[in-house]
Amino acid sequence: MSQFFALTLSDVQRDTADSLVLTLEVPEQHRARFAHRAGQHLTLRTWLEGEELRRSYSLCNASGEAALQLAIKRIAGGRFSEWAHQHLHVGAVIEAMTPTGNFGLDTQADVPRHYAAFAAGSGITPILSVLETTLRDEPHSRFTLVYGNRDLASVQFRERLCTLKDRYLARLSVFHFFSNEPQDVALFGGRIDQPRCQSLFDSCLSVPTLDQVYLCGPAGMMEAASAALQANGLPASRIRREQFVADPAIRQRAASAVVSPGVALTVRLEGATRRLRLPPSDDSLLDRMLKSGLAPRYSCKSGVCATCRCRVLEGQVDMPSPHPLDASEVAQGFVLACLSKALSPSLTLAFD
Ligand code: FES
Repeated sequence: MSQFFALTLSDVQRDTADSLVLTLEVPEQHRARFAHRAGQHLTLRTWLEGEELRRSYSLCNASGEAALQLAIKRIAGGRFSEWAHQHLHVGAVIEAMTPTGNFGLDTQADVPRHYAAFAAGSGITPILSVLETTLRDEPHSRFTLVYGNRDLASVQFRERLCTLKDRYLARLSVFHFFSNEPQDVALFGGRIDQPRCQSLFDSCLSVPTLDQVYLCGPAGMMEAASAALQANGLPASRIRREQFVADPAIRQRAASAVVSPGVALTVRLEGATRRLRLPPSDDSLLDRMLKSGLAPRYSCKSGVCATCRCRVLEGQVDMPSPHPLDASEVAQGFVLACLSKALSPSLTLAFD
């Protein structure tokens, strides 16, 4: 169920000209339900002019910390981010759902691994959480961060990355790429693209030493890094991606005029089972459920956050791809309700 909890802001820091870092205090009685894994995200909610707005933001602090930390970058014309930058201050209360997401992996203290992450812009937020958690919990592992930005002034968490570099001198390497600021070393002056990745692999980062790679940023950067890594022998199964903007092609296909038939829908949600008869519609399964009075968890409604993930226990659905679910989730029957349409006359979904 889309249950929201009131959290108080204990700290608000301006990180760059257009980015705020918020710390949210979790009341003692909700600590267990808000315990987060590295790389998860949080859905925040506010109401503007009578309209409910929900947005998902990746948590940027290490797992196990009682408070939650996230960054909100101001987006021109973005109603939620504009509101957040104007109205959120220390002591303000904001509504949040419990953390979700499967980007980060569980750590193993005794296994020495080499991780790398490729981030661009705000894509650093879930990566920072994974990086801090890994270096803290795996004392024999090392981490290489490749981080792209416009220029030095737009680097989010710049001081924090410097502090981490000092603390984990021998285990953390950071390579900054700037697309709009000349660099002494030509390799680092430009976007993270496939040729630059290849040059990096040829000079500073040996792909065969990598056990796991995380990608977060614009689709083009993730495609380029993924292609370069695989061209150098890294299996796709060792590359994890976190998308944070909707792919317009997916949106378009999800919104296509495919009309789902009337469907006898059984939904398992929060331990209860509901049965509904839905009329034919071109709406997504999520919208059809919301219109019927059910309240499954959701945030972006655009196939980005995976908050609406559910499992098809019986029947068939159509879900456009690519999407943020990994192959093992798809093999287990998971789908995103906000992208999916019913194909069969009867369907059973589980949100538990
Ligand atoms: S609500 Fe975000 S992916 Fe469905």
